[in-house]
Parts: sequence; C-alpha cells; structure tokens
Amino acid sequence: MKVKKGSNLFEEVRSQGSLSALCNGRGKCGKCKVQLDVELPLTSVEAKLLSVAQIKDNIRLACQHPILEEEVNAANIDQENIVVLGLDKGHVNIHKKKSDLLCAIDLGTTTVVMVLIDGSSGEVLNQHTFTNPQRTYGADVLSRIEVTLSHNDSCHRLIKGEIKKAIVDIVARYQPKSMSIGITGNTTMTHLWLNADVKPLIQIPYRPSVADVTYQSIRNELEIDVDGDITVYPPIGAYLGADILAAIALFDLFDTKKNILFVDLGTNGEIVLACNGQLYATSTAAGPAFEGVNMSSGCGAVDGAIDHFFNDRGELVFTTINETTPVGICGSGYIDLISCLLEGPLESSGYMAEEMVFYNNPKVSITQKDIREFQLAKAAIRSGMDMCLIRAKITYEHLDLLMIAGGFGKHINLDAAIHIGLIPNQCKENTVFVGNTSLAGCVSWLTNEKEVPTKDEISSVKVIDLAGSSQWLQLFTEHMMFEGGNV
Ligand code: FES
Repeated sequence: MKVKKGSNLFEEVRSQGSLSALCNGRGKCGKCKVQLDVELPLTSVEAKLLSVAQIKDNIRLACQHPILEEEVNAANIDQENIVVLGLDKGHVNIHKKKSDLLCAIDLGTTTVVMVLIDGSSGEVLNQHTFTNPQRTYGADVLSRIEVTLSHNDSCHRLIKGEIKKAIVDIVARYQPKSMSIGITGNTTMTHLWLNADVKPLIQIPYRPSVADVTYQSIRNELEIDVDGDITVYPPIGAYLGADILAAIALFDLFDTKKNILFVDLGTNGEIVLACNGQLYATSTAAGPAFEGVNMSSGCGAVDGAIDHFFNDRGELVFTTINETTPVGICGSGYIDLISCLLEGPLESSGYMAEEMVFYNNPKVSITQKDIREFQLAKAAIRSGMDMCLIRAKITYEHLDLLMIAGGFGKHINLDAAIHIGLIPNQCKENTVFVGNTSLAGCVSWLTNEKEVPTKDEISSVKVIDLAGSSQWLQLFTEHMMFEGGNV
C-alpha cells in the first residue's frame, strides 16, 4: 500500500486491519514489521528489535515512524494467518431443537473458535479457528479497552466483521431457514462484541456494564437474511467472563459435592474452586504464553506446532501436531521444553546463559525473554490456584479433581507440568485435561443440554480479588521459581 508523506505509518497500515501490534505501538514487541521500497532512517528501537538482514531488506517497525518524511510503499510482512482446522467430525445430543443450524463461538483474547452443528441431528459440521483480529490493538484486554476508551470502536468492528464474514459463508453453504448463534468469551471480549461500555471494567469497583444474557437478531445485527438470534452469555464479573460460566455449567459445579479446581490457562487465567457447596473464583493476567503468543518461536496448537519435547537417551527430540514440518512451539511444547532444559542449562530461577536454537532451525529456539514470559504466566496461574484453596481453607490433598482447560496443545505432559511447578505434585493422580470448555459449555447451552445459571447462582460465587493482596504477591514470587511447591 502507498502511504503518503506526513502520514503515520503505523495507523495507515493498521487501518487495513491485519497488522500485528502486540504492544499497541509502544516499541516493545517488534511485531509491526513492514517492508518498504525506500530506506528509512533506523530508530534505536528498530536497531534493537530487528536483525541485520531485516534492516538491510528495508524492513522497519511501523510504530516507529509516526510522521513519514517521504511517500513510501509498505507491505505488511508479519500478518497473523487465519488457521482453519477443518472438519472436526463428531456428534452432540440435541436436547430440544432450537434451529436448523447452531453455531457456538468462543471469543478468546488471542484465538476465536467457532463450531457449527446441525440443529436436528447434532452432527458437528465444521470447526473454524482464527486469530482475533483485535490483536492489532495489543495482546491483552487492557490495550483493547484503552483503544476503545479513546472513542475508537475498531475492536468492535474488527471482530464483528470477521464473524459476519464466517456466518455469511456458513449461510451460503448450508442455506438454513433458521440459525442460533451463541457467544461466550471473557468479559472484555463479550463487551466489545456488544459495543458495550468498557469503562466500568477498569474502574473500581470493577463491574461489567452488561451482566445479563443479551439477545440480538441475526438479521438486524449482522444484516444476514436468516431467522434466529445471537445469544451473548453473561459474565460473572469484570474479569470472570461467560467463558468460565460456561465451564461451571458444563461440569455442574454449582451442584457438585466434590472439591474440584478448574483452571483455564488462557491469556486471562481464570480459576474456579468448588468446595463444600461454595464456588470461589479468581482471574490472573497470565499473558498468552501458554497459547504460544509473545514467544520467539511460539504458535497456537495448529498443524506443525511442536507439542512435545522429550529426552531420548540424552538427545532432545520433538513431535509435531499431525506430524508435519515444525512451524513453531505451542504451549504444551514449552512446558516439556522447559522441563527438559531444567535438566541442563536452565536454572530453577529461570536464568539461562544464552539463547538456544535447536536442530539448526530458527523456528525452534528459546530465548531468555521466552523463559521470563513463561515464568510469569506459570507464577500467575499457580499463585491464583493457591489463593482459591487458601480462601476455602483446604490444601491440594483435599481436591477430588483438578481440571485444566485451554488451547495449549492436545495434551500437557503431566510429569513436565509438575516438574516446572505449574501443577502441584499432590494432583498427579487426579488431574484431567478438558480442552476448550468455553466452547463446549456454549454448545451445551445451544443444545439445551445445560441451563444458563441464574442471576442468584452467579452472584453467589465468591470472587477473590488478587490486586493488592500481599499474600498473593508472596505466592507469585515463590512460584516464579521452576520447582514444585505446596500450599
Ligand atoms: S513494536 Fe510493538 S507495535 Fe510496534
């Protein structure tokens, strides 16, 4: 694209909708790369974040050139690819028919997943996964809220545009007479979908501005000619969204007599403990490391992602999803890799003397910065888990079940997760990995298998606020170490 003299390169390229900008233009992530047809002067940030070869190829960081001194042709070279996982054959039970087609959507901060189901037979027709296009405004929910508060509804428009495109394709292909769409996700994502006021999410006392189920007409909202509603499910609080409510409904946590700890390893790590008939919940800003984001070789759980590393007679070997050429490392791969490295060059403090490239392949490398990102995510999650147990006055020995959800890869190697201190040793025998429960819960609502919890049930959840808690801070610091720890 042509960008005129005097324009802001970052804003111009971003307005095309596909520029990666995880730090939202702060010059930290190095993601907003563009290739230019002229040689622009190099800033100190670019000298730090770009390789010599990139600089030579006229690659620059768009956010570093707020006022162009000459007209340039810029090509965005670091686009997030939309990944389609293809048909995922399966079947769900339709308890009461709602519509010809059901579409459950999990709006993740990093990844959006849609699943399409035949409303009569329950056949799973398709599953579609793509990177949340709002990532051009930063990797975390706070950057998206900031952008939205600066009177900019781009985050709303971006996600609506992408979902609308997908629904138009679905309607053209399946030609349903009626359709029901369900949307879950964290509170910021559902608010941005609704274009609701996000200010209360970041202001004391941190409350959602929409706390009820919201119904929208597909015809009015998406301008698509099909009967049916979009149901946007309610959150529990500002940082406990419909995604965690979906998991609570899916596993009947309001009714269980067992002690169950549920942990979603998402960008916003959400944790619920069911104990003696009471639910405790908290969320921690874990960052997207478990989803392979912000890591030098990181990627989602897609074809070619390295999902496991292990030591084979002293040699580090790996497997990839669907056994294809490695394209990067996903969350489960990082857990294994760090566990393996702890046997060698990596200290339990997280210090590693130098960057490591494996198999002569730059797509398989790990840096000190990656380790630090991972350490922060691990410490945030584990200290949040501990806080729930402390509030309920129990220890890990009292747990009947530990459920781990998230898009980290197919399965986490439990021994490796215990080795790095993510999962407590006491849970070795009773930990299960449950996949994307936000999506599964959304499906259970659309098929009428489960009911949406009532307002009274939702308000009975004891929300644990970690901000400003010295106990949490102490646990967080302890769990920065890569070693098992007990409550
Ligand atoms: S360096 Fe992060 S957006 Fe430019």
